[in-house]
Amino acid sequence: MPSATPEPTPRIVLGVAGGIAAYKAVEVLRRLRDAGYHVAPILTPDATRFVAPLTFTALASEPARVGLYDDPNLPIPHTKLGQSADLIVVAPATAHLIARFAAGLADDLLTATLMASASPVLLCPAMHTEMWEQPVVQENLATLRRRGVLVLEPERGHLAGGDEGAGRLADPATIVALVQRIVEGYRGPLTGRRVLVTAGGTREPIDPVRVITNRSSGRQGHAIAEVAARLGAAVTLVTTTVRPLALDVQRRIDVVPVVTAAELRDRVLARASESDVIVMAAAVADFTVAPAPNKLKKAAGPPKLSLVATPDILVELTGARRDGQVIVGFAAESTDVLANAQSKFERKGADLLVVNDVTTPGAGFESRTNEVVLLLRDHDPVTVSMRTKEDVALEVLTRVVALLPQGDQ
Ligand code: C5P
Repeated sequence: MPSATPEPTPRIVLGVAGGIAAYKAVEVLRRLRDAGYHVAPILTPDATRFVAPLTFTALASEPARVGLYDDPNLPIPHTKLGQSADLIVVAPATAHLIARFAAGLADDLLTATLMASASPVLLCPAMHTEMWEQPVVQENLATLRRRGVLVLEPERGHLAGGDEGAGRLADPATIVALVQRIVEGYRGPLTGRRVLVTAGGTREPIDPVRVITNRSSGRQGHAIAEVAARLGAAVTLVTTTVRPLALDVQRRIDVVPVVTAAELRDRVLARASESDVIVMAAAVADFTVAPAPNKLKKAAGPPKLSLVATPDILVELTGARRDGQVIVGFAAESTDVLANAQSKFERKGADLLVVNDVTTPGAGFESRTNEVVLLLRDHDPVTVSMRTKEDVALEVLTRVVALLPQGDQ
C-alpha cells in the first residue's frame, strides 16, 4: 500500500534584534523546536551583545547566523533563508529593526532576509514604553501592517531598569501558539469552502459632506468572518468598517472595503456565484439619494431629499442561488420582533435569518455582545442567549455547516 507523503516540516526563520528581551528569544526557539519546526536563527550584530549565537546554535536546527558574508559556502544566505521560510518571526523586534524594515533597508543579514522573502512576517516588538509610544515607531508599524506584516503587540509589565509599562515582549508561549496557528492554519468543517461575508453600515452621500447611514459597527460581521476562517474557510469580507482582524486569521480573510449600498452590491454580486456560503450581516441602506454635487447651503433652508429604494441584494442573491449554496440574512427589529422577522424570512428567501432585537441592552449595534433568534426552514426558532459576537458567530456557522451539502468541497 503506498504510504501517505509526510507533510514537510515547516521552516521558521527566528530573527533576534538587539534588545534586552533577546534572552527570551532562547525560550521562543526552544518552544518552536518542541513544536516540531525547523528553526534557523538570525541575530543582528547588536543582538550578539545580549546573547551568544552559540546558545541559539546549540538549540536550533541549523547554526545561528549573524553576518551576510560569514559563510564561504553560502555566499547569498539571505535569499536562501528568505525564500525557504514558511514564516519569519522577529522576537524581539526593536524600534531600530522596525524602522529599517519599514524603510526597506537591508544592511545586515536579518533585514536582507526580510527583504528577500515573500513569506509572512510576524514582528514581536519589545522596547521601553517611551520608545514604544514614539509616533515614529507607531507610524512605522502602521506602514508595515498596511503591507501585510503581522504585529503581536507587546504586553504591559516590568521592563529593564526597574521601569513598568507597555513594551514587554509578548510571552514566548503566546508567540509560539500564534506561530502554530499561522503556519498550520485551521482545518475545520468549512475547509475547502468559500464564505462571503458583508459587514458594517453603508453610507449614502447627500452632498460632498453629509451622509445617510446607520449605527452598525460591523462587529458581528467581522466576528463571522474571523470564526469562518478558524473553521477552515477561505473568506472574503466586504465591509464598510475596516477594523483590525485577529492576527491568526488576517492572512485568510480577503478584505474588500466599500462605502455605499451600490458598491456593496457590486462587490457581492461579482463574487456570489463562486461562494458556497453568503452571510449578509451588513446593514445595507434601504434608501439612497442622488447626491448634490456641491455642499447644500444652510441658508437655502431644509433640503428636500428625494429618497429612492436600493435593490434588495439579499433577495437578488436568493433568487439566483445555485444548488447547495447557503445564504444567511440578518434582521434588525425593534417592534413585534418575531412576527416582523418571520415575514422578512419568507420575503427574502434566505436559508437562515439571524434576528436582532435592537432594543435589548447589550445586543445589536456597537455592542461586543449579542442575543439573537435564528429562523430556519422546517425548524422552530432557536434562541441564542446573550454571549460574545464570536460565540454568536459560531452558533450561526454551526447551523450553516449543517445546511451545506456534504462531501462536495
Ligand atoms: O429589509 P432589511 O433591511 O431589514 O433586511 C436586512 C437584511 O437584508 C440584511 O441581511 C441585509 O444585509 C439585507 N439587505 C440587502 N439589501 C438591502 C437591504 C438589506 O441585502 N438593500
